[in-house]
Amino acid sequence: MKLKNDLLLRVAKGERTERPPVWLMRQAGRILPQYRALRAEVAGFKALVSNPDLAAEVTIQPVDELGVDAAIIFSDILVIPEAMGLDYEMVEKRGPLFPETIKDAKDVAQLNHGANAAEHLEYVYEAIKRTKTGLNNRIPLIGFAGAPWTIFAYMVEGSGSKTFSKAKKLLYQEPVLAHQLLQKITDTTIAYLKEKIKAGVDIVQIFDSWASLLSPAQYQEFAAPYIKAICDSIDEVPKIIFARGAHHSLAAFSTYPAQVIGLDWNIRPVDARKILGENQVVQGNLDPCALYGSAADIQANTTGLLNQFGRHHIANLGHGVYPDTPLDNVKVFVDTVKSFRYED
Ligand code: CP3
Repeated sequence: MKLKNDLLLRVAKGERTERPPVWLMRQAGRILPQYRALRAEVAGFKALVSNPDLAAEVTIQPVDELGVDAAIIFSDILVIPEAMGLDYEMVEKRGPLFPETIKDAKDVAQLNHGANAAEHLEYVYEAIKRTKTGLNNRIPLIGFAGAPWTIFAYMVEGSGSKTFSKAKKLLYQEPVLAHQLLQKITDTTIAYLKEKIKAGVDIVQIFDSWASLLSPAQYQEFAAPYIKAICDSIDEVPKIIFARGAHHSLAAFSTYPAQVIGLDWNIRPVDARKILGENQVVQGNLDPCALYGSAADIQANTTGLLNQFGRHHIANLGHGVYPDTPLDNVKVFVDTVKSFRYED
């Protein structure tokens, strides 16, 4: 079925369009009062994630409210460890917490993986189907997964952390075991993304949120190859790789079978273009805190960014939108992109 607005997919395929598409990482969530009200009503984040009707509703909220060019399915990267057998809690104001973590070979051996794990995520596939119905072909739906290193980091550390030193310790002390765990996560992620695609997502994004914690050499050994393995296994839809802080690996990503490379706000558009060339489709990278500025500054910063990237660009922030961002400012960002036109 043809989408009414397929700007994101056309740009991901390398086509020339009159303006860039725009969406925001973390657009489905706490910036919206409707989301906060619903979450309070159902008693929490996980109740929303695991209920396909509510997850679909929350996915569509920013589409109606902000007029973005894509929806991203409301879920979390941490459903993967849960499906593998490691339950998580979402603690208010603190973030994720895993009561049990991965410590040794026995723990890794006990994990579910691959299709056997992915089959526990039926509620996500159902949420995708209902979202597609609710979107009624207005815009594409983005599916996502955490990159294996980022998922590994939570499974070993057990919670968020500034350093993730427990997770990194395992890389140095037990590299063979670390690779076994990363491989199991990768197998599960591939099976999961394939089911998401069958359920209806039009494009997928891989989030390597903790890429910046690894040295370039460690990233090359423990992170990048697993992202490549996922990209190699998925050819049904376009792929976006977003690895925060992995500027050392941008050139490598551009050789993978992935259409789009996401950029955090710590790299200048011209420097990204120097590494990747004018024709690589990139996504990003306004500092999320720029949305605390005045409307005039948001317009100027956004237009500046669009001019610097030129074509083959998907407008977004350089990481997820912060929960206390004024909604009107988010709208200024979206509207600025939507009224922009390339000159030639
Ligand atoms: O709009 C969207 O982008 C879709 C929904 C989405 C969520 N999580 C919902 C969510 C997506 C794409 C994610 C991905 C995710 N989850 C990542 C990668 C992206 C990134 O920001 O780096 C990571 C690292 C997680 C793990 C996670 N989930 C953390 C660290 C936290 C707590 C910190 C926080 O932002 O509150 C979550 C919770 C979470 N995931 C919330 C939402 C809307 C907030 C929970 C709530 O509403 O109480």
